[in-house]
Amino acid sequence: MSDIKKIKDEFLLKLKENLDSNQVNQIKTDLFGKNGVISSKFKQLGKVAEQERKKFASDLNSVKDELQNLITSKINDIETKEINQKLEKEKIDITLPERPFVQGKIHPVSQVIDEISSIFSEIGFSVKEGPDIENEYNNFTALNTPDNHPARDMHDTFYLDEKKELLLRTHTSPVQIRTMLNDKPPFKIIAPGRTYRSDSDQTHTPMFHQVEGLHIDKDINMGHLKGCLNYFIKEFFEVDKIKMRFRPSHFPFTEPSAEVDIGYEIKDGKIVIGEGDKWLEILGCGMVHPNVLKNVKVNPDKFQGYAFGIGIDRLAMLKYGINDLRAFFDCDYRWLNHFGFDPIDVPTNYRGLSR
Ligand code: PHE
Repeated sequence: MSDIKKIKDEFLLKLKENLDSNQVNQIKTDLFGKNGVISSKFKQLGKVAEQERKKFASDLNSVKDELQNLITSKINDIETKEINQKLEKEKIDITLPERPFVQGKIHPVSQVIDEISSIFSEIGFSVKEGPDIENEYNNFTALNTPDNHPARDMHDTFYLDEKKELLLRTHTSPVQIRTMLNDKPPFKIIAPGRTYRSDSDQTHTPMFHQVEGLHIDKDINMGHLKGCLNYFIKEFFEVDKIKMRFRPSHFPFTEPSAEVDIGYEIKDGKIVIGEGDKWLEILGCGMVHPNVLKNVKVNPDKFQGYAFGIGIDRLAMLKYGINDLRAFFDCDYRWLNHFGFDPIDVPTNYRGLSR
């Protein structure tokens, strides 16, 4: 019996057995792989005596075809069997009730940041961001806050290292510094973001949100500051008239400085903004101190302007009638479901701000 016939019989026998796909593939490699039995035979072709070569080649080819076809059909059979078994096992239970459709909600703080950005962008402010981890220079020194200022005290500031070089920013004002160091005046930006102070009660949380405003140009004065804030408050609370009070205050980075209160009253258990005789403090502001401008290489004889820092969480509480600030950051889904906003319904000045 010729070699080729032997190979054929041997492998036909093997392929008759009940094989899984790995085993069939192994046989395929044994036959047709780089060093497979059939492949090696083909390599011998050149050495076969000339008169026998034709027959040898034709026998070899027909055995090759026969075995190859058998292997292909075996693999097909196995795959079909596997698919059928799978279909059998993975039957869909059509009596199963569908899963409830859950849609996320936008947190009131995110919503209010969108509203604020939309209002200020209407009057030419662009939006900047800065990192939560700041260095001592941007957060204090460059902002004309002397070494012995109480705001630097361990009590208020979360320092991140022994040397007190890195900290969690205590306000968004360092974005003023970053913006002015990176660019040339004029500047007209707002910078919303997270801020941190070691403080916690019903109206204070260790992490809270501010939006910084900075407008530096030639001939900017306190009147512009008042006009800008007045416009903002009216747009934000969607009222025509607003009662606003500038109280003299002190910040190292502004001179003069003021804190701004807005008038409100409680009517039928609801807060009404812009009327009444109660006052609520919502922001700090002032004309940027010449020392700050010098620190960022802006000439205070040519350029000046105003800055403000608004407490975002406070605004959100007021606008949407939420009375405990701590609930903002409890991550309670029931709370978010109640106070949250539709994710596709983004506030714009044109489509309306509040919901
Ligand atoms: N950074 C001040 C604060 O956090 C607010 C402020 C900003 C005041 C800009 C004046 C100018 O209290």
